[in-house]
Amino acid sequence: MKGRRLLLGITGGIAAYKIATLIRILKKEGAEVRCIMTPASCDFISPLVVATLSENPVGIEFWDKKSGQWTNHVEYGLWAELFVVAPLTATSMSKMAQGSCDNLVLATFLSMKCPVLAAPAMDLDMYAHPATKRNLDQLRSDGVTIIPAESGALASGLEGEGRMAEPETIARHIRHYFSRFGRLVGRKVLLTAGPTFEAIDPVRFIGNHSSGKMGYALAEAFLNEGAEVVLVSGPTKLTLAHPELTIVHVQSALEMLSAVQTFWPKADFGIFAAAVADYRPVEVAQQKIKKSNDELELKLIKNPDILAWAGENKNNKILVGFALETNNAIENAKAKLQRKNLDLIVLNTLEHEGAGFAHDTNRISIIERDNKITNFELKSKSETASDIVEHLIAFLK
Ligand code: PMT
Repeated sequence: MKGRRLLLGITGGIAAYKIATLIRILKKEGAEVRCIMTPASCDFISPLVVATLSENPVGIEFWDKKSGQWTNHVEYGLWAELFVVAPLTATSMSKMAQGSCDNLVLATFLSMKCPVLAAPAMDLDMYAHPATKRNLDQLRSDGVTIIPAESGALASGLEGEGRMAEPETIARHIRHYFSRFGRLVGRKVLLTAGPTFEAIDPVRFIGNHSSGKMGYALAEAFLNEGAEVVLVSGPTKLTLAHPELTIVHVQSALEMLSAVQTFWPKADFGIFAAAVADYRPVEVAQQKIKKSNDELELKLIKNPDILAWAGENKNNKILVGFALETNNAIENAKAKLQRKNLDLIVLNTLEHEGAGFAHDTNRISIIERDNKITNFELKSKSETASDIVEHLIAFLK
């Protein structure tokens, strides 16, 4: 989102207080943010907060009563690359659908040259009313993209559909819009994520603690740069939807290998973050194993190394592996980089607090074939994923 020009239109609903968080997310990601507010919205969030966070003056009235200066809504329309109205109240929705123009946000909407996103917010009965549905349909047919309201606790004390989408969700829609200008448009990325589960019997398996968070964060980071992503995912609780994303759900290492073999020939890059079980039971019992003896012996057989297979069939593609280590981290990672024919390896070690499995954070080092090592600080997995994508883009150059 770096340098992208984003105009936020804030209308008067309780969800307006959440716009502070949205502005912070957008600014952190480098967007240039300007805000305009309806007079009613100033009861829900102070223009001073909005101006301070966005680092820009806020437009509220058609003219400044003190200076007599006119607020040029047409200029906003020409400046913005994307206009986001959030929250969009029932009143403003109805006025936008009608083309009314009695405040600065509405006048700017009518002057807009760029695409418009809108995040409705209202009580559940209002959201369900046929008039609201009609207005939403009208806005959609006028080309406005609606970020659907979510279900949950409402300011009225009721529960239901009508809550404004969370700031992170709105930010995701905005990233999605700007991804068309990304640096990896037209590139195909194959990712692996999550654990594999190796069945012992119909109810038990050998698995590990991978949550899939690192791999899914990578998928988002690549999508934000406009890449087409195939994510081969072991069993996780995570979900991700995007028009440029194909998710292939697998359980075992053999299933993961088969999916990778299908998609690797068409990919430009491979980033393998999955924690694949190194061994699987030789035999899978057809029925649940009964606990009859004090001891139970399980015979295991080695799983294929999926990353090594991709390394053997690499051609001119770029291949990045992960190394999860507990000791001799750098040496072990370097050995994997060479052995599996990788271009880069991302090392995370359980010796560092907050790194590796399940955490929302990770602390990585990226090692190159010439032994160059770049160390990163402990960060969220989403920021870590952006660092990896940035590193890869720089590496491609
Ligand atoms: O999912 P999270 O909870 O967010 O945790 C993220 C993570 C810790 C799982 C991730 O950051 C990570 O380190 N993934 C690799 C884990 C791992 O299995 O490392 P390894 O050193 O054993 O494997 C080296 C590389 O070979 C990895 O890229 C792995 O995907 C790949 N591999 C390993 C074995 C195998 N049979 N096939 C493989 O493809």
